[in-house]
Amino acid sequence: MPVNDPVVSAQTPNADMTIDQKWDLYSSEEHAIWTTLFERQMKILKGRAAPEHFKGLELLNLNEGGIPDFRRVNEKLEKLTGWTVVTVPGLIDEKQFYEHLANRRFVSGRFIRDGHKLDYLPEPDIFHDVFGHVPLLTQPVFADYMEAYGKGGLRSLEFDTIKNMARLYWYTVEFGLINTPEGRRIYGAGIVSSKAESIFCLEARSPNRVHFDLERVMRTDYRYDDFQQTYFVIDSYEELMEATYADFAPLYERLPTLPELKPSDIIEGDKVYTKGTQEYAREGGLLAEAEAV
Ligand SMILES: [Fe+2]
Repeated sequence: MPVNDPVVSAQTPNADMTIDQKWDLYSSEEHAIWTTLFERQMKILKGRAAPEHFKGLELLNLNEGGIPDFRRVNEKLEKLTGWTVVTVPGLIDEKQFYEHLANRRFVSGRFIRDGHKLDYLPEPDIFHDVFGHVPLLTQPVFADYMEAYGKGGLRSLEFDTIKNMARLYWYTVEFGLINTPEGRRIYGAGIVSSKAESIFCLEARSPNRVHFDLERVMRTDYRYDDFQQTYFVIDSYEELMEATYADFAPLYERLPTLPELKPSDIIEGDKVYTKGTQEYAREGGLLAEAEAV
């Protein structure tokens, strides 16, 4: 539970771990942090984020300045795709997370990061959760994918494949790229809400960029504390949806027989857009940058 949000710690969560956002209790400083982050990202994301991201921000009036009030966001979002945003105190367990997604509820933290450390995030905050994730929930196919993912996640609990499902989420919902007629764009929330990775993922020589393949992604370990070493690219949200519609049972039987892949691996059968130099990871990544300061 984030220690810096007394509004969260004062509440006892409901059985499904939701709490009240208590929007009226945000301070003017907290609203100002959102606006600073928003304006900073919008400059960087021009020509980098998927068009659906900008459209979603507009449809939900997330660009009005200040931390969004979920009551107002949900009025619009529910009409568009049946999704709502709910508040949780912090990270919740997989089953609860999947259950919310399967019922078209996206869980968001309440707290916003420290205004003096805009790029330091000990756990996802409301800027990541809402600015990063919620715009694409206005798009019907992506909205369906998220629900299908939640249902697949619930099934994965019976198969001991939570790790594989987490990788699918990571490499699509959090760190996915998409080909568009205008060029490659970002749709992953982890990237869209990060200043440095928004540039790195598209422009750096270091990472691999490989076409999305469900089984390949499920076999691939990831970096949770640094920029990704491989980004997976889709051609459309329909492609994601179709892959997720498949019956995962044969895949789940095959996965334990296949070798696990490292975050930087390129394997036979990959459709490779960029074979990265991996120089960033080799030189120590964020760790080296932190030491240089
Ligand atoms: Fe996220």
